[in-house]
Amino acid sequence: MKLLHIDSSILGDASASRQLTREVVATLRAADAGLQVTYRDLSADVTSHLSGATFAAKGTPAEQRNLAQKLEVELSEAILNEFMASDVIVVGAPMYNFTVPTQLKSWIDQIFVAGVTFRYSETGPEGLAKGKRVIIVSTSGGKHAGGATGVGHEDYLKVAFGFLGITDIEIVRADGLNYSPEAKQAAFTAARASIGNLASASVAA
Ligand SMILES: Cc1cc2nc3c(=O)[nH]c(=O)nc-3n(C[C@H](O)[C@H](O)[C@H](O)COP(=O)(O)O)c2cc1C
Repeated sequence: MKLLHIDSSILGDASASRQLTREVVATLRAADAGLQVTYRDLSADVTSHLSGATFAAKGTPAEQRNLAQKLEVELSEAILNEFMASDVIVVGAPMYNFTVPTQLKSWIDQIFVAGVTFRYSETGPEGLAKGKRVIIVSTSGGKHAGGATGVGHEDYLKVAFGFLGITDIEIVRADGLNYSPEAKQAAFTAARASIGNLASASVAA
């Protein structure tokens, strides 16, 4: 079983989502000693934004690419291959300004590749990344789940992964983190209860 662990918080050691994704991975590892984990820190790595230059690089024959284009294509392909090779993806997804961090959006832009992770046919779109399990660690200072202010965060991620054909999407949520120290503690307790259920869900699946 291959697991891809993604963090995107810019808050380093103070990050709630980084703490919780670590706990998710530790829990799944405890349930499966053979778990192979690949880690990508989107805040530390330079994940390039999709741009005209990216498309130009991809459209240039490999032997004619300049160094910048080669690096751009290499990173893009590495990100895509990691995603496609994984059975489980754990995504640290803080809410920044009502959506996901720009680093996470850039990663999503790199894994949406027509003909690889989705395709259009006469009957509409079809996701090609079926069978994967996605665990989203959702953190926010306020409370947004189920409301209009949450649409760009958890709802967006569900739509995006769903478009790729992924139906097994679970949320580990720690919200209201900035309300008070007590609220933060309660949010961690709730998130840890969800994490405790993940291993049994994977055994049952
Ligand atoms: C740049 C920035 C923007 C934020 N925007 C929001 C927001 O729009 N709504 C909200 O509820 N919390 C917001 N917060 C609070 C974070 O969601 C909260 O601190 C959470 O713990 C972030 O997860 P992290 O600690 O893993 O980075 C923001 C925090 C930062 C640093």
